[in-house]
Amino acid sequence: MNIKVRPATADDAADVCRVIRKSILECCYEDHRGDVKVIQGWLSNKTHEVLRRFILAPDAFSVIASVDKATVGFGLASGTGEVALCYVAPSVRFTGVGKALLAAIEDHAVRSGVEALRLKSTRTAKAFYLRNGFVPEGSPVFAFGIEGLPMRKGLSARG
Ligand SMILES: CC(C)(COP(=O)(O)OP(=O)(O)OC[C@H]1O[C@@H](n2cnc3c(N)ncnc32)[C@H](O)[C@@H]1OP(=O)(O)O)[C@@H](O)C(=O)NCCC(=O)NCCS
Repeated sequence: MNIKVRPATADDAADVCRVIRKSILECCYEDHRGDVKVIQGWLSNKTHEVLRRFILAPDAFSVIASVDKATVGFGLASGTGEVALCYVAPSVRFTGVGKALLAAIEDHAVRSGVEALRLKSTRTAKAFYLRNGFVPEGSPVFAFGIEGLPMRKGLSARG
């Protein structure tokens, strides 16, 4: 599979929105357990307009993954290394798209002099982040009725 990763633009917002919503609904059962209220809360800010704003935020770095020109993944990090979103379309899960998104975010963070990436992992993604060098950092926090596990990955500076 030929996975392409590039910086996201405002024009990607609608596709990104579709990928994230589908990923939450179909991949994250371990987190929302099919609870309609939890799902509604989680999806409430995953709209075209909000994602457009996230992509355009001045200190944000966001990336799109595509396969055969179809958008299949999205990652977003702040200028201080907080990974806010990392979602892959259910149809391509476990094929390396998540790893490619994370690598692009990490590369950009290193080049920007960020010392560590931080995120709050879903239960669904915990094993993925552990495999990719993140370590748990502190107690779980709750947002949108789901548990987020704080994790950190130290980065070593390179050229
Ligand atoms: C977590 C997520 C981003 C990972 O992306 P992904 O594209 O599925 O992950 P990758 O394919 O890059 O890596 C998955 C690994 O699991 C392996 N794998 C393959 N089949 C698997 C299976 N059935 N179950 C578990 N792991 C499997 C892959 O081979 C790969 O192994 P590797 O790290 O040794 O190469 C993605 O699954 C997702 O969008 N999950 C739902 C949304 C979510 O929770 N996002 C995180 C928000 S904090």
